[in-house]
Amino acid sequence: MDFDVTQDWHVASPYDFLRTLRHQQPVFHSAHLGAYVLTRYADVRAAYGDPRVFSSKGSLTISRSLTEETRRRLGEHGSFLSSFVANVDPPDHTRLRRSVSRAFTPRAVAAMERRFRELNENLLDRLAGRREADFVQEVAHEPSVKLTAAFIGVPESDESFVQHRVKDWFQLFLSPQPPDRQLELADSFLTYLDYVDRLVAARAKEPRDDFTSLMTSLIGKELTHREVVELISTILLGGNDTVPNQLGNSVLRLLREGLWPVPPERIPNAVEECMRIDGASLGSFRHTTAEVELHGVRIPAGALVLLSTDSAAHDETVFPDPETFVIDRANADAHLVFGYGIHFCVGAALGRLQLRTALEVLGRRLPGLKPVPGAPVAYRRSIVGRGLPSLLVQW
Ligand code: HEM
Repeated sequence: MDFDVTQDWHVASPYDFLRTLRHQQPVFHSAHLGAYVLTRYADVRAAYGDPRVFSSKGSLTISRSLTEETRRRLGEHGSFLSSFVANVDPPDHTRLRRSVSRAFTPRAVAAMERRFRELNENLLDRLAGRREADFVQEVAHEPSVKLTAAFIGVPESDESFVQHRVKDWFQLFLSPQPPDRQLELADSFLTYLDYVDRLVAARAKEPRDDFTSLMTSLIGKELTHREVVELISTILLGGNDTVPNQLGNSVLRLLREGLWPVPPERIPNAVEECMRIDGASLGSFRHTTAEVELHGVRIPAGALVLLSTDSAAHDETVFPDPETFVIDRANADAHLVFGYGIHFCVGAALGRLQLRTALEVLGRRLPGLKPVPGAPVAYRRSIVGRGLPSLLVQW
């Protein structure tokens, strides 16, 4: 058994396998990933907390399955996101993180709630005459995509372009693809970086009240042009995909557990427990900068390591009876789905706000929501993300 997302069992439910690893091989060498995998909560957290030994350099663009030709095509354009905030170590990280954090103040995040609520209400108004929909395709994405686009400063007319490019980005770097498809996806990704580049140029000329203008104003002071382009392209990714994936996973879980609609006062903890048990993010990659000895295994310097937050979230030493969904589990929010340490997700508060708001609005407007009986439900094949391509529901 291995971390192989071409295998159905691994995508559907890797938890027996992960439990065996936690007990018997807490430092597992995955031949398939070409990486060591840490599965115990304490080890995963300690590795996140030690960025000097577990470096983030290149951690987001690890796809081992990229062909030489694809690498060349991306490389010619310097498109490995080598200066994206999640992909660098201190001191660059400290500087980049400081700049990004300026846009994610608690006040700025709280101010987005009203807009997000409206976006959800508007969408449900449009679905008012319907009794059935694809929750993932038709409900989960639109409000997050629109909120993120407005935050970044992407004009409404470009939203669908951006959304498609972001999907291609995800597929290229995080799921195994055949060689021809890789080249197609690489070209799509390059078009996307080009688009962001032009957006930055436009805001440099004529600033507005958006994230792109704020970051552009820091070029030459705190940030380089390249850093701003990579930051914006990847924040769009964070906003466009992770939150809707987490929402889809959460709604499916709540429906299956018979806990729909969730009473408003129980929503904040329900959101955490959904993230714990069906996290949209499965882990992060790191490279060791020195030899590490852990549980009798010697991990050489320069090795690729997967910190499995998915396994950590199911670690029975921290979360008793981990495969059971407990809506008021006292320590549900101790999951590591947003990472930990210096790279802890800068959008975590915004992500939580969206998930809580969406569950509240959806529960009130669609109290009779249920999955369409017999409709197939399968997670997409990805090493680091869990999400449903489709979830048919009725009400
Ligand atoms: C449920 C939704 C989300 C999940 C599960 C998630 C997950 C994560 C994780 C695991 C990391 C750490 C990566 C690492 O250490 O290698 C991270 C970092 C990051 N996330 Fe999120 N994220 C979510 C939403 C968002 C949103 C909404 C945004 C922005 C609008 C965002 C922007 C970022 C950025 C910029 C970083 C890099 C931070 C750094 O390196 O200092 N994320 N996220």
